[in-house]
Formats: sequence, C-alpha cells, structure tokens
Amino acid sequence: MTRSFEKVGVVGLGTMGAGIAEVFARAGLGVTGVEADPAALERGRGHLEGSTGRALAKGRLTEAERAEILGRVTFTTSLEDLADADLVIEAIPEVMDFKRALFTDLDRICKPSAVLATNTSSLSVTEIAATTARPGQVVGMHFFNPAPIMKLVEVIHTVTTEDGLAEEVAALARRLGKTPVSVGDRAGFVVNRLLLTYLNHAAVLLENGLATRDDIDAAMKLGVGLPMGPFTLLDLIGLDTSYEVLCVLFQESRDRRHAPAPILRELVTAGLLGRKAGGGFHRDEEPGGPPPTVKPSVGSVAVLGEGAEEFTAKLSAAGFKTASAEAADVVVALSRNPVIELAAGLPHPERLVGLHLVGDGVAEVASTVLTSAEAARAVEGLVRIVGRTPVRCRDRAEFVVDALLYPYLNDAVRMYDSGYATVEDIDSAMRLGCGYPSGPFEMLDELGLETVRDGLRALYAEYREPSFAPAPLLDQLVTAGVRSIRDLP
Ligand SMILES: NC(=O)c1ccc[n+]([C@@H]2O[C@H](COP(=O)([O-])OP(=O)(O)OC[C@H]3O[C@@H](n4cnc5c(N)ncnc54)[C@H](O)[C@@H]3O)[C@@H](O)[C@H]2O)c1
Repeated sequence: MTRSFEKVGVVGLGTMGAGIAEVFARAGLGVTGVEADPAALERGRGHLEGSTGRALAKGRLTEAERAEILGRVTFTTSLEDLADADLVIEAIPEVMDFKRALFTDLDRICKPSAVLATNTSSLSVTEIAATTARPGQVVGMHFFNPAPIMKLVEVIHTVTTEDGLAEEVAALARRLGKTPVSVGDRAGFVVNRLLLTYLNHAAVLLENGLATRDDIDAAMKLGVGLPMGPFTLLDLIGLDTSYEVLCVLFQESRDRRHAPAPILRELVTAGLLGRKAGGGFHRDEEPGGPPPTVKPSVGSVAVLGEGAEEFTAKLSAAGFKTASAEAADVVVALSRNPVIELAAGLPHPERLVGLHLVGDGVAEVASTVLTSAEAARAVEGLVRIVGRTPVRCRDRAEFVVDALLYPYLNDAVRMYDSGYATVEDIDSAMRLGCGYPSGPFEMLDELGLETVRDGLRALYAEYREPSFAPAPLLDQLVTAGVRSIRDLP
C-alpha cells in the first residue's frame, strides 16, 4: 500500500518540533502542532514565527510565502485533534516514560492507518513501538538541529516495522527536501553512535594527558579538515546531552568506549554544560592567538625516518644547519609511532623528538619521557617555520590524529558489517549530519585500507582496547587485496 502523507501532526514544539513543523509546512503539508499547555503552545508558535521571520529578513522567503507556511499550521493543546492525521511525529523530551505514555495515547487517538514516528536521538524505537497495538506502523524519523536547515534525516526501522514503510517515509523525507538514510534500531543510530564514540575517545585521551584540549582540537580541525575540534563540538552539542547519549550507548553495547569519560560527568555536575550554560571544556577566552613564528635558535638538526631527505631539504632551505643524529642539537624522528626506542639508542636521548606530518597543515610533535623541554620547543619552532601548526603530544602509538580517526573508521566498518546501514548511507549521514568533508568510507579509500588496518593494529598493541583491533572485514579486505569496500560484489 502506498500511503499519502498530507496531514501531519507534530507533538512538542520545542527546539526540534517547531523546526520539524516548519519543514512540513514549507513542503505544503497541513500541520497540527500539539503542545503540553497554552504557555508552551505560545512559545512553540513563537519559534515558528521567529524562524520564518528570520528567513524573511534574509530574503529567503517572501511575505506571502511566510503567511502561507504559517497558515498551514494549526496550534492546539489537544492530542484528540490528531485523529485524522496521516503521520504524527513526536518531539517531546528524551525520556522513555514520557514517550511511552504519549505513544499509548496516540495509538488510541489516531486513525488505524496513521504512521507514528519518533524524533528520538537515542532511545529504542522498538521499545516505543511496543507500547502501541500498531508496532508495524512505528518508525524513527530523526531530524537534526536546526531542522529547517540540516538536510539529513535518519529513518529508523525496527524488526517489527512493516515492509516498505521505511521506504515510504524516506520518500516523504525527500519530498521535504531532505536526504534520508535508512538505519536499523541501534542506540545512537548512525551519526550519534559514530560521533559520540569519537568525541568520548577524545575526552579519554585528554584525561590520559596525550595532548591538551587546544592541541587535540587543532589536530582534528587542521589535520583532518573537520569543521571543528572535538572539544569545541562537545561544548556546542552540550555536555549533558553528550553524557546522556553515551549512557544510552553504553547501556546497549557494554563497550567501555561508550562509558562517558569521567571528565564529562565532572563538568556536567559542576553545571558546566557547554556553550549553552557555564562554558564546558572552553571557559576562559585565552588572550592572543598562536605564538609568533620566530626562528628557533637551533645549532644543528638531524632528521631520521621515512621522508627525512625531503624534510631536511626544507630545513636547509629555511637556513638550518644539519648534522648527524649523534652530533645534532636536535634530532627529529619522522614517525607515527613511538620513538622512545630510537631515543634510547642515542648518546643524547633528550634531544630526540617524534614528528608526524599530518596532511599539509599539521605536525604532531611528540615528546618522550626523556625529551627535554628545549628540544620540544625547538621542534615546535621548526614546524612553524615550515608552515605547519604544531600539535604537542606524548609519545604514544599513532600520536593524536590517527589515534582518534582510525578507531572511528573501524567503528564504521563494523557498523556496515553488522548490516544495519549501507556504506553510502553511513557516508552521507556523517557528511550531512556532522558537516564532515567526507564520510568514513571515503576517508578509508583515501588513506588506504592497509594503512588504517596497520594503524589499528599498532593502537591495539599499545592500548589493548578490544575495539581497536581491526574489524575482521577490514582485515579480510586487506588480505584479499581489495582496495575499497565499495569493490565488494
Ligand atoms: N535538540 C537537538 O539538537 C535534537 C536533535 C535531534 C533530536 N532531538 C530529539 O528531539 C526530541 C525533542 O528535543 P528538543 O531539543 O526539541 O526538546 P525541547 O525541550 O526543546 O522541546 C520539547 C517540547 O515538548 C513539549 N512537551 C513535553 N511533553 C509534551 C507532551 N506530552 N505533549 C506535547 N508536548 C510536550 C515541551 O513543552 C517542549 O516544548 C528529543 O527526543 C530529542 O532527543 C533533539
């Protein structure tokens, strides 16, 4: 049966619901917006008027279009007004008991053919569906904030969802001008599951003292080209929201990488929720920008490792003297893996610094337990002279960028292999939901499956974290000589 979705209901007109109501109304559907009480209803109306008013001011809507959009929305505090809706989407707070109670009511009130959808970010759609007598007609329709702008909609089907319904809801999302991706019902779906795991990992590495907040942020922004670093993003999402989503992920997976880093709990308990309240990882605005690019006073430099010749040539061109590793004042070891063994073999181990060049803009500057502060500072200076941003870090496997990026890519491979989303859907979810320049499978293709597999092996050997072990599928692809997961039959 092909359904026609013409009349929709939106329950809860807060941050998300008001935006979702606007999206439906803009696409020409009749919308009934339901709020808990008259005051909240007025706030919801205000959100819609405000948002369309801003679009008008920016010239994105005409006065007539705005009036037409607002004219399609009816506001009410009575759920009974949803009796003839074709689809009802719920956007009330993220509390399972509230959602269950609401779906029980909706099931009683709505016509038998109506589809019921939830905008939950992390709760089980299956559990919500199970409170109704129509679990086959319940789906997740996960919009992103701000709903009128963000293109992605995750359409979640459960084991009880009727065949074909998710496709019909996806077609509706396309009619709204959105890009739907189809996902099974696992905590966090695609975006929150992959994103929050990565963000939590960054918080754990910060707590372990791998690098500072700003160094990790710079590494991911400048080294990978992400729109912002993990701590800036955590502050933007809200540390309370992030903490809650991680708890839900952990409850389902029991994977300790989903256990919120203790620093998140501490900041949330202190009321430091991020940008919306109190500041979070970022609080005081530090004065000044990066230190000026002053040529470090280094007598002589030696460069070791793969790419040494090219880097030595750059340093020579910048006017630095080079010498042997035994005699140089500073020894730079180009590496992505710990350099302590190399340092320990030198007459002056305190002069050796690990250096990993990431992309065109970043260089990770790794200090071992023996590296002197002067040597590390000198290498930071050298790095600036050759036009890169230094990221100071400890001497750990895969240093910073790869230590954060590779487990995220591995998680994406596992997600695909578990059959709950396709390669294309995972890629577009991460591009559209997070503004990433490319999806994880595109990144894998660019980096090379073998490089990532080997990096994961090194990470596993260092941290003994079970989920850092390369996904069996990744291992098999490398062994079979397959260059891209897309080449699989
Ligand atoms: N905020 C985000 O970035 C975001 C993104 C995607 C999904 N979500 C999900 O969307 C849902 C809503 O989040 P939000 O940020 O819009 O919350 P919100 O607190 O801004 O809005 C919730 C609204 O629901 C209303 N409400 C509560 N109980 C109700 C009831 N029984 N009937 C009618 N209205 C009721 C409240 O008055 C409030 O206006 C949550 O499930 C959340 O996880 C949020």
